[in-house]
Amino acid sequence: MKVQAHPITGTIGAEVTGVDLAAPISAGLGADLRALLSRHLVLVFRDQHIDLAAQKCLTSVFGTPMHLPYIEPMEEDPEVIRVLKEADDRSGVFGGDWHSDLSFIPEPPAGSVLNAIDLPPYGGDTLFANQAAAWEALSPGLRDLLDGRDAVHVGKPHGVKWAPAPESRSRGAVRMVRGDPEADRERFHPAVLTDPETGRKSLYLNPVYVTRLDGMTEAESRPLLDKLKEHATRPEVSMRLRWTAGTVAVWDNYATLHFAVNDYAGFRREMWRTTFRTRAFAAWRATA
Ligand code: SIN
Repeated sequence: MKVQAHPITGTIGAEVTGVDLAAPISAGLGADLRALLSRHLVLVFRDQHIDLAAQKCLTSVFGTPMHLPYIEPMEEDPEVIRVLKEADDRSGVFGGDWHSDLSFIPEPPAGSVLNAIDLPPYGGDTLFANQAAAWEALSPGLRDLLDGRDAVHVGKPHGVKWAPAPESRSRGAVRMVRGDPEADRERFHPAVLTDPETGRKSLYLNPVYVTRLDGMTEAESRPLLDKLKEHATRPEVSMRLRWTAGTVAVWDNYATLHFAVNDYAGFRREMWRTTFRTRAFAAWRATA
């Protein structure tokens, strides 16, 4: 079988054909898949129907599977989260705003694999936005302001100081870990990361966790951050993944944002998510 990547949009995402993820992944195929992820940032594999073991093997192609802090994993495996919304759950959806994963920890994950297990008949799509394309489309003035500047990330939903009131929390099936004072501390990461292999820069401003830009107050930063979020999620840099039975997707967590669309009330949706780390975050920061 010949591995081929078919771009989904002009800026982000590719459907990959010629791969059977249930079969062992050779070193050569693994290298090809890493190169494709680096180029397209989101890879989509259709009709795979893989089990947990195959999902873990695929995850290991891109990095080391992680036990995530702040999210309760599946009982069967501490490195897998069941992203589940039951048909009668009206309380919100996991990941239902533009974000990248866990940017408020010292070494945020490098990417994730999401495996469609049970899908609603319609809806439940996932949106992705290319933060390298967003960076490239910024004006020189804004680039000057952001390049070399840190942004401040705080894990408010998981801390003590800003913990959301119990009645406002999602009662969904994905259980969050809360009340950790470490999540309240300000964590500084560059507002612009640089891929150490390609030299490509991307905006790294997580709309959920970034509270301000370094050297600026929250009040000063807010209008700019809101404007940047709008810029970074424009249709021209985004894609919409319509899940079908057996679809598996992999994304780059440093150069994309994603958003789970909550439009399938009355239907069940179950996905398995694995997340991987690499040793590369220091390099993405260092070259920024
Ligand atoms: C997430 O990882 O944020 C959830 C994505 C999804 O369920 O579509």
